[in-house]
Amino acid sequence: MTQIPDSTALMGPPSSAPLQNRYTRMIGIAHPVVQEGMGPFNTARLAAAVSNAGGLGTVSVPGTDGDLRAAGRLLRSYVDQCAQLTDGPFAVNIPVGHRKDGRIATFSRVYLDEVLTARRADEKLARQLRIITTSAGFPHGLTDELHSEGIIHQHKVGSTRHAIKAAEAGVDVVIAAGFEMGGHAPTSGMHSLVLLPNIIERIDTPVLLSGGVRNGRGLAAALCLGADGVALGSRFAASTDNADWHPAYAEALLDAGEGSDMVINGVFGPCRVLRNEASEGFAAGGSATSAEKIEAMRRAQIDGDVRHGLVLMGQVASGIEDLITVSDFVPRMAVEARQILAATAARQWGDREGG
Ligand SMILES: Cc1cc2nc3c(=O)[nH]c(=O)nc-3n(C[C@H](O)[C@H](O)[C@H](O)COP(=O)(O)O)c2cc1C
Repeated sequence: MTQIPDSTALMGPPSSAPLQNRYTRMIGIAHPVVQEGMGPFNTARLAAAVSNAGGLGTVSVPGTDGDLRAAGRLLRSYVDQCAQLTDGPFAVNIPVGHRKDGRIATFSRVYLDEVLTARRADEKLARQLRIITTSAGFPHGLTDELHSEGIIHQHKVGSTRHAIKAAEAGVDVVIAAGFEMGGHAPTSGMHSLVLLPNIIERIDTPVLLSGGVRNGRGLAAALCLGADGVALGSRFAASTDNADWHPAYAEALLDAGEGSDMVINGVFGPCRVLRNEASEGFAAGGSATSAEKIEAMRRAQIDGDVRHGLVLMGQVASGIEDLITVSDFVPRMAVEARQILAATAARQWGDREGG
């Protein structure tokens, strides 16, 4: 039989109070809202804006055309740019590949070493850049290494099996990535509404939901399903603070409706993008290299050619209709979520008691 909670147990702090929980306390942020990595694009300014707004911003890796040293230097410049613009904590997202011998792929190692070296040389940076988010492959042995450097390890997964594996390895935060998400999506094809509760019921590690969230309603839903916060991509891409990207990219997200997206074979498996000439071409052609796909992503983001370039975006773009300003959006999301949670409780249990 379904248990109906005692209505007094649902009466929490007022709806204007901050949404604090074990995740916000662990990271040292005001709101359980994360801007997740959006490589191969520069998100340094956006990350600083999110961290200044009380969320957690994430610097993304630039991608590489083969010159790993140059890619490492570029990442370092993004980290420095972000640190100059905020005093708050921020993260770096590093997709992790593996070599045949099981060791971390060279490109991932270059990015990691760049971050570790930068932190070791600068105490203020080390206090701010306390979080590394890994994605793509499972980082064997990496959690212990990051912990020994005083770094919080978040890892993004697309299946319950991978979430359990990450939790068993001691990962501090698991990011549950639903298939509706923008960019590289899990090969399991699991969507947020099914994946998140599956994971929540199997691990005790704090979990963030990534995929399909664009406002306080999505945050409230994630919290109801047991998440400790949300990690957004597409919503933050369409922001006045995302000034390093060509404006046509955000316009493409605003114009997108239901059915405007499709999944192609990206650099790390399935990748959700805008349906256009570029994505239809890659889907039909089949044999494009990773470098060609990264170049097509840059064409959309730098040149603003959103017809012949790849526009990574989630299904959530169908509900994105305006550009946000991050300083207003992040705290508003938390207030909205709290109000929705309170109103839902009142509607469900208040009506029951009244009637
Ligand atoms: C433009 C774009 C680029 C992305 N690049 C990365 C990346 O480099 N690494 C990664 O782990 N996830 C990447 N993602 C996924 C996001 O981090 C996030 O998980 C996803 O956008 C959440 O889904 P949403 O778009 O519905 O908010 C990207 C997403 C977008 C939209």
